[in-house]
Formats: sequence, structure tokens, C-alpha cells
Amino acid sequence: MFDAIVFDAYGTLFDVQSVTQESERLFPGNGSIISRLWRQKQLEYSWLRALMKRYATFDEINLDALRYSLQQIGKEPTDEVVANLAGQYLNLTPFPEVSEALQELNSVPLAILSNGTPSSLTAVVQNAGLESYFEHILSADSVKSYKPDPRVYELARVVFDAPKDQILFVSSNGWDVAGAKQFGFSVAWVNRSSKVQEELGVGPDYVVESLTGLLPVLS
Ligand code: 2OP
Repeated sequence: MFDAIVFDAYGTLFDVQSVTQESERLFPGNGSIISRLWRQKQLEYSWLRALMKRYATFDEINLDALRYSLQQIGKEPTDEVVANLAGQYLNLTPFPEVSEALQELNSVPLAILSNGTPSSLTAVVQNAGLESYFEHILSADSVKSYKPDPRVYELARVVFDAPKDQILFVSSNGWDVAGAKQFGFSVAWVNRSSKVQEELGVGPDYVVESLTGLLPVLS
């Protein structure tokens, strides 16, 4: 049915909230707020820098967002703490069904298309033991911009040399779903926590609760 399936990484395959535990250990009572604020700032900085045409790598943005978030809640972003927490991004936990679902979806070529840097994406995929599933790990770093800039989605279209709607793009992130659909991909939104759809005028073709829900979409 599709020529390829392309996955967003952070929040879709890997649980970005798995940094909560280490944040909580370092700053008791603040693990959850740090984790949520950090992710939100990380995304905002990527979009702002793309708009400002002031590219910095996602690794750098991630450090900046963490430093901002710690200061915002009155904590000092020492080099040691920042390095420790940012290092957690290389060991994010995949969502529980990911490995099994990828195994079953593997009859179609699979790829990752993420705002993350090539080195951090490779590390998090390898540390989770998922490297054998993906034909390509594509990074926004190649075009020095960030999703939802169409130039980033174009990377996946080019690598699979397929019509846009023959590529199924899969993301848990509402903004990424909208960006991918606007680009022209077929899109599945993995809505794990019953969020409401973004009001951006473009929505997904499919809504599933986990990656397992993609199997019926393909059959
Ligand atoms: C991604 O992996 C940032 O979640 C976003 O591209």
C-alpha cells in the first residue's frame, strides 16, 4: 500500500519524558516540570531558529533549552548537571510496543526523519537495539533547518524516490503531523494520550493509539 514508512523519532519512537527520572533525582520534586518545560523549549528553539535562519544543531538547541528550563525554575544549570541530563537523550526509552511493531511493519522499507543530529539519532537507535529496522536515518541537519520546514520532509521523498502520498509519515507530534500532511505525505498520527488535534487546517489521514495500530492501516 505504501512505498515506505518514515517515523519521527523523539516522542514517537522514543519517550522524551524518560528524562524525568534523572531530573527528579537531581532536583527532587521538579522532575516532571523540568522534563516538560525542556521539551517545549527545545521545540520552540528549533522552530524559532528555523524562522530566524539562525541554525544551531539540535544537540546545541537541546542544551540551550535545558539551561533555560533549569533557570526558569530557579535552578543553576551547572555544566555537570546539563551534561548529565543532556546525555540522557542518547538513552531514551523506546515506547513499549516499538520493537515488536517495527518487526511487523518491516515488509515495507522503514526510515527515521528527525530534527535530531545524525550522531545523537544513531546513538539513541543503537542503544535501544533498533538499528536493524531502518534503511535510513535522516536528519534535518542535512538542510540546516527544522521540521516543519518542507525542505526537511523532502529528504525522505528524495531518498525513497516515491510520490509523496506513497510515503506514510508517522508522528506523535501534532505539529509534525500537520507539517508532513502539508508537505503531501500520507500521515498517521500516533495519539498515545488522547490529545486534541492541532488547529492548523491540515490533519492526519489515520489516527492510531500506538504503533501497533498501524498494522491494520497497511493491510
Ligand atoms: C523529532 O524527532 C523533534 O520530535 C522531533 O524530529
